[in-house]
Amino acid sequence: MEIIANQPTIGAEIKCLDLSRPLSTAEFDNVYQALLSYKVIYFRDQNISPDQHEALAKQFGELEVNPFRPQGEGRPALQIIKNDKDNPVLSTDVWHADLTFREKPTKFTILRCIEIPAQGGDTLWSDMCAAYDGLSDSMKKFVCSLEAIHDFKNFRVLYRGTEEKRQELHRMEDMFPNPAHPVVISHPETKQRVLFVNRQFTVRIKDMSDYESRKVLDLLYDQASVPEYQFRLKWHPGTIAIWDNRLCQHYAVNDYYPNLRHMERVAIEGDAVPHFDADAIPEQKYRTIRRVHAVEGLH
Ligand code: SIN
Repeated sequence: MEIIANQPTIGAEIKCLDLSRPLSTAEFDNVYQALLSYKVIYFRDQNISPDQHEALAKQFGELEVNPFRPQGEGRPALQIIKNDKDNPVLSTDVWHADLTFREKPTKFTILRCIEIPAQGGDTLWSDMCAAYDGLSDSMKKFVCSLEAIHDFKNFRVLYRGTEEKRQELHRMEDMFPNPAHPVVISHPETKQRVLFVNRQFTVRIKDMSDYESRKVLDLLYDQASVPEYQFRLKWHPGTIAIWDNRLCQHYAVNDYYPNLRHMERVAIEGDAVPHFDADAIPEQKYRTIRRVHAVEGLH
């Protein structure tokens, strides 16, 4: 197999690998290392079935059931993301890492393109290690001391209208009580520091006034929008992307309405509560981005 990096720290294409069959141990190890290094990896021309999609995902861990997304028939772990004129997108066009409202948020996501409009429908990912790295030393020190509360907030609209839906919302709230996660986490394997707040699921910073929390969060959310930290993928039917939600955030570009965009997604359950370890030193040297300007103090 061949690994071709797209951007300095995020996004790589893996060529010459057939995902329709189980990966050998050596293949899996190489793919896994590429995933940790590049945060999101993708494969072209993989015409696999939902069975093969789930089988691929099982090599990475336990499959996650997402209670807020339509599921495949008889396949609770297969999430259907099918948007068109009658079904506009529901908050995939907001920067996020998957399901950070869970005590153990989603580890990996594997997204497969079934149908894509002639123009548009790309996905962007942002390297949240680079986003942390790009902060000043004073800001880094400050945000490393903070925790933030997360909630499934945008999915609440699904429970409007009837008493039955209100009861269902209460069941969801009981199932997903708002966790407090560190604002900066240490990746459990690479030990890199990662900025871990996102516009979709973070609601506030603990022990701050609403005003302070809003201002700090806006500054941190904006880091995902820095182009130097991003990778953008143009999908074709048969393209598969795998990403590590503990290292990056993503944003599905919503520029194709009313056309059809059809994706299927299988995610891997988180196996650890997010944690910040002040003493952790990255195990290996990672590429970083320095936004050096000719005029000092531009940013
Ligand atoms: C998502 O996981 O938020 C959806 C990404 C996409 O549809 O490109």
